[in-house]
This record gives sequence, C-alpha cells and structure tokens, in this order.
Amino acid sequence: MEREQWNSRVGFILAAVGSAIGLGNIWRFPYMAYENGGGAFFIPYLFAMLTAGIPFMILEFSLGHKLRRTAPAIFARLGQSVGIKLEWLGWFQVFIAAIIAIYYVAIIGWAISYLGFSFKQSWGSDPNSYFFEQFLKLGANSPSNLGEFQTGIAISITLAWAMSFLAVYSGVKGGIERANKILMPLLFIMVLVLIGRILLLPGAFLGLNYLFEPDFSRLLDFKVWSAAYGQIFFTLSVGFAIMLTYSSYLSNESDINNNAFMTVLINCGFSILAGILIFAVLGYMAEEQIKPLTEVVNSGIGLAFVTLPTAINLMPAPYIIGPLFFTALVIAGLSSHISIIEAVIGAIIDKFGLERKVAASIVCAFGYLISMAFATNGGLLLLDLVDYFINNIALLLSCLLELIAVTWLLDVCLIRQHANHHSEFQVGSWLAVCLRFISPAILITILVKNLYNTIVHGYGDYPIADQLFLGWGLVGTMLFFAILINVISKSDNKEMPL
Ligand code: ALA
Repeated sequence: MEREQWNSRVGFILAAVGSAIGLGNIWRFPYMAYENGGGAFFIPYLFAMLTAGIPFMILEFSLGHKLRRTAPAIFARLGQSVGIKLEWLGWFQVFIAAIIAIYYVAIIGWAISYLGFSFKQSWGSDPNSYFFEQFLKLGANSPSNLGEFQTGIAISITLAWAMSFLAVYSGVKGGIERANKILMPLLFIMVLVLIGRILLLPGAFLGLNYLFEPDFSRLLDFKVWSAAYGQIFFTLSVGFAIMLTYSSYLSNESDINNNAFMTVLINCGFSILAGILIFAVLGYMAEEQIKPLTEVVNSGIGLAFVTLPTAINLMPAPYIIGPLFFTALVIAGLSSHISIIEAVIGAIIDKFGLERKVAASIVCAFGYLISMAFATNGGLLLLDLVDYFINNIALLLSCLLELIAVTWLLDVCLIRQHANHHSEFQVGSWLAVCLRFISPAILITILVKNLYNTIVHGYGDYPIADQLFLGWGLVGTMLFFAILINVISKSDNKEMPL
C-alpha cells in the first residue's frame, strides 16, 4: 500500500499547528503564566521552547520523515540498530494518545454544549452552579462512582467524535489536511476579532498588566520551571506519537528545520495571544464587578466554563462574543483531537496493514464507547484524575525514554545530519546538547519530583483506591500491554535506514 502524503507544505504546517494549538493553549497557558510569575514566566517558557520544544520537534520531524512510519515501527527500527527491542515505547506513546483522545473529546463536547448555550446565555446569572450542578450534576460522585448518564452531554460528545471521524476517515489529504486548512485560518481570525473587541473594553489593560507584570523572584522557584517544561510537551504534541505520525506523511523534498521552527513559533505565539485574550476579559470583569483581578481568575476547566460565561454575561453583544469564543474553543480542540486519533489509527494501519477506513472506524468506535464514561455526573472527576497521571507521569516518562533511546543509544548527529540535509537553514551542535544533556536532565528532575509528590501526597482528595486503579493502574497497564505487544510481535527484519 502506498503511503499517504500531504498535498502541500502549507497543508502540513497547518495540520501540525492545528495539532499543537488546542485546549491547552486557551485555558492552561494563560492561567499557568499568571500563576507562575506573570511576565517572568515567559523566561522559563521561552527557555523550555528553545531547549526542549524546538529540538524535540526537529527530532520527531526527522524521524517521521526519514523512516516514514508511525511511532511503534520507528522505535522498533531504531532498536534494531543496537539490537534491543524498542517497539513497546512506540506503543506506550500510542496508548497515551488513545487515552488523551478519549477524555479530550469530552471537553470538546462540553464546549459544543456551551456554544449552544452561549446564544442566549442559558447559564444564567450564576455560571458556577450552572456548570457544576445543572450541567454536570456533579453531586457526591467520584471517579469510580460516576452516577447517572447525561444524554445531553453524550449528544455533544457524539457530535465531536463525528467531526473528528469524518476527517480521519477521509484520509490525510482529503480529510485531515482539508479540515485544518479551513479550521486554522478561522481560529486565528476569530481570536483576533475577539482580542480586537475586548481590548477596547474598560479594564482590559489592567488584566494585561497582571499577566505581563514580572515577578522575577519566582524564577528561583523550581515549580515555575517545571510548569514551563510540563506545558511545552503537551502543547507541542510531542512525545505521544502525533508529530512522528504527521511527519511520516511528508514528501521527500520537505524542509525539516523550517517546518519545525514554524510549528513551534506559531503555537507559542498563539498561546501568548490566548493569554492576552483571557486576561483582557478578566481585567474587564474585575472592573465591572469592582473586585481585584485575583478574585475573578480561575484555573483549568473553571476558566472556560465558569469565569468566561460570567464575563460574557457582562459584555456588550454577548450573543456574538459568546458563540465566537466557544466556536474558537471547539475548533482548537477538534484540530488537536483529529491529530491525537490519527496517531492511533496510523500505528494500526502500519502494524496490521488495515485499510484506513476500517482502522478509522474501529478506533473511533472503541474510543467513542469508552468516552461515554465522561458523559456522566462524575465524568469531570474521572477526567481530572486520569489527565493528571497521563500528563504528569506517563507523558514525561515517555518523552524522557524517547530522548534516551534516540540520543544515547544512537548517534544523535545522524538526526542533525538528516535534518540539515533536508533544510534550507542548518542547525548547529546546540541541537545535540539540548537533546542529550539539557532536556533529559530537566525531565528527570521534574519526573522524579512528580513521582515523589504523587506517591507521598497523592493527587487531590480522590480516594486512594481510585488513584491506585485509575492513576497508577492505568499507567502500569499501558506499559504492560505495550511491552506485551512487543514481546509477541514478530521482529521486522527490514534494513535499518538511519
Ligand atoms: N497540543 C494539544 C493541546 O495543547 C494537545 O491541547
């Protein structure tokens, strides 16, 4: 079967940017910047972008482009050259993508519901109780006691799956590329229109002052650096099979370094735009409610589904700004979700030689059924717990293992040679220094700290049994099955091309 390819360079960049720009940019980045030193956070963030983000992107684009396979086959071939089995690392990454796809879609589903509500601000005058009590009906549930099924949420999640399915079913060119060519320009236009309007509101610049006011003393805090590095891997979609898969559809003539720089810079630039948008809104809200900004700011889910609806209530023409905001959130989420499931579908096509349409149908059907667990009263709690373990343990572990495997077992100079051979401008030996020393050292430190904190203190107030089964158990099961597939699969004797 001939490998699918992107139709154009711009199509690939838009797809890679579409994957990178996601829910994480819109609600996670602004709050993280605010909480970790405001303007001073940009120093560790830019440092993480330069020492980990760009090198990792060049690494993944080079591997995907060179080997033209998805994560399991790429690691299997890399392992062959040093006589060890590494396919399991690729499957571990694919499993991380599969789990993220299953819960990420639930948030897109909520955003679709809120898009509907935003035309009339159906959340009323108390968006906090609306979200938790009327919409989710959270009650006294827990991650393992999910309560009742919520048909309304299930319908929105179904819509989200249907759109992603359509894109992956229709193929790399006809589906994924076409979807991103429409979605990405639309997203940028919407966000710019929103910023343009909101910056004119009273108090908006007060919010920006909060966001950009640097507190340099925070730079001495390890947590701030850890937050910056943690954010960079998730936001750039590296370390969980996505960029390897997308770059495996590149044509031979592609420019690796240029594509990698553009993807990273556009993504990080968009995060800053999202920060400006969210903090301008918060500044306006603080001014209207005559409260300090520290009292109106909210983290994570609460920012999108509680704080912003509250702000929308106060705005002129809320029936325009509200739908614009939630459409932007849905678009950002969908373009990432498409890439996350493609990482799984691509791996299955490579391994079992299935037709794309069959693989896409199987993966989406399974994913859809499991994601119904989030269309319940306790879905938010399950999501929060699983997301913590996936992001803070599994993903960091996977990134670290990838770096060790590629740069310590193999000659990292080969990666640089390949990238430079296929690029207009060359990258220097800093690439090897970042990939071999700086990034692994920082990743080990963060991972050890996360492991220690989670083992000693646990996460949140969730019952220990839930943390053991749905957190540690999940990560352990993913590793177990990844290794099992590797052990039972026949070794591929093809020549190792690197
Ligand atoms: N990179 C995607 C995000 O930030 C997954 O949401």
